Amino acid sequence: MIFKNVRSAIAVFLAAALVLVFSQFVGAAENNCLLQGVVKDSSEKPVTGAFVRLKNNERHLTFLVISQAEGRYSAGNLPPGHYTVQGIGGGFQSALSEPVGVTAGKAAKLDVSLTTKQGPKLLPAWPMKMPEAQRPSLPKELPEGDGKKFVAARCTVCHDAARFMAFHMNRDRWQDTVRGMRANMRGAKLRDLTDEEAKTAIDYLSANFPPTGPPDLNSRLPRFLLEGKALHYRVVQYDISDTTQNAEPHDVAVDPHGNGWVGQRIGKLGRLDPNTLDFTEVSIPPGPARADAQRLGNPQIDAKGMLWVADGPNGRWLSYDTNTGKFTAYDWPKDARAGAGGNTMALHPNGTIWATGANQARMFNPVTKEWKFFETPSFLATQEPTGAYGMTVAGDGKVWFAEDATDRMVKIDPATGKVEEFKIPFDGVAYPRRMSHDARGDIWVGLWNAGRLMKVDFETNQMTFFAPPTETPGTYSVSVDRKNNLIWVSEQQADKIARFNPKTGEWVEFPLPDSESDPRRIEVDQNNPNRVWWSGNLAARTGFVEVLSGN
Ligand code: HEC
Repeated sequence: MIFKNVRSAIAVFLAAALVLVFSQFVGAAENNCLLQGVVKDSSEKPVTGAFVRLKNNERHLTFLVISQAEGRYSAGNLPPGHYTVQGIGGGFQSALSEPVGVTAGKAAKLDVSLTTKQGPKLLPAWPMKMPEAQRPSLPKELPEGDGKKFVAARCTVCHDAARFMAFHMNRDRWQDTVRGMRANMRGAKLRDLTDEEAKTAIDYLSANFPPTGPPDLNSRLPRFLLEGKALHYRVVQYDISDTTQNAEPHDVAVDPHGNGWVGQRIGKLGRLDPNTLDFTEVSIPPGPARADAQRLGNPQIDAKGMLWVADGPNGRWLSYDTNTGKFTAYDWPKDARAGAGGNTMALHPNGTIWATGANQARMFNPVTKEWKFFETPSFLATQEPTGAYGMTVAGDGKVWFAEDATDRMVKIDPATGKVEEFKIPFDGVAYPRRMSHDARGDIWVGLWNAGRLMKVDFETNQMTFFAPPTETPGTYSVSVDRKNNLIWVSEQQADKIARFNPKTGEWVEFPLPDSESDPRRIEVDQNNPNRVWWSGNLAARTGFVEVLSGN
């Protein structure tokens, strides 16, 4: 108990220091600079519907805007600095510009000419992973070499070798993957690897599955020119990878002031202020887990700005007041069947905190300090992994989650403790991931493998599928603009964020600036629903897509 108080005292102190740092930036940055110009083709004709990407390396920022009538583009609200600019559209691109100096008070001008052919298309795929269509060329067996036997024995316990054989990554990435898998092993109460064993695996994997080449940032941008509603948006992106190694900002949540908060798996929260475009980090209070063994979970923020997150390696759940910077730790029950970490959190309107993990749902009541666990009938019957992934609360207060390994949806009645399961009626592997609810209380789910968006009627349990225009997009997470009832979904394999209007059946897809951005979690800012935040896990970036007037 004393230990806990000391811990939270330190946390309060750190938080106070952080608030000071934050407030110094407020008002300091005047992000009102403007860069504009015209996009032309190789015969000097203006091009409408082309992408213009602007990078400010000193500030780790990227902006994407679209050329409008007469090929004009305009990037506003920029911080002062130097920008390299490239236009891409209709299968062509311009050369990267020399850095253009941009200052307040005077619009900078730069025209771009799409004179070079866009490079080869990168088919939708997991980042650094061979696209599905090319995988038949994969070897059937692990390649020979030192460490083969070891990797075959220890890395195929939870999944088969095909899970990692299609990856092409540098040593640093393999090191990070093995670090993550060691956390998975400890979470599953399997024997961890020794550092020596980890090195054997990393040596073997990086020698046999090296990167295929430097990424072409334009390889996922469409070859056609944008039109209609897709013309009116911009993207703001912050590259955490520039300053922090292997941050893994897997998930993003928005606070009541409109700031985006990422849960970085390395054990830090990060905040991007959409006005100053400053990114600040705060480390979680120290716990028993080693610095290189952190794996912070999925943050959720309530209407008062209280952020909740599961902290598996340190055996606790944390709350973090985004207003005061105070952390509070809630110790995980000692007799729990599995660890405190998992996939997703959900905040129930009745004040209880929910999460998924280890094939079950968990509930914590911050008032009574009571923990509750909900097992599914199929896990109880078979003890076989069912998965427990995305989670949300329906219109009637029932809690839904996805069994990603068995393609089922689970419904829990918190009042009675009743747990029901429903098979997803998809012909093939659906792989449900994250979900959210709309204003009526119906559930919307990303079926990642099926490439579909699914609606679940919370009253009848009926499930309906909707297909986005892009094939095999990797529909990963869903967030609903509850004011306008628009369903947003991240297309993780295609580097796009898409919007679906259930009333009209209309889809609009908004490409992100860079290939292999790995957009996982998205969240609509409910107070400013034109802004949809996203976090790119392996690329270590975050930002927002902003829908502009005319849309
Ligand atoms: C305790 C179970 C377990 C073991 C053992 C395990 N993995 Fe995994 N692996 C997982 C899970 C779960 C995922 C899904 C992603 C996640 O949650 O980390 C995964 C995903 C992956 C991925 C996909 C990338 C990703 O982050 O999703 C790769 C690559 C991988 N594993 C490689 C390995 C290698 C190499 C080893 C051996 C060193 C290994 N795994 C051992 C559980 C395990």
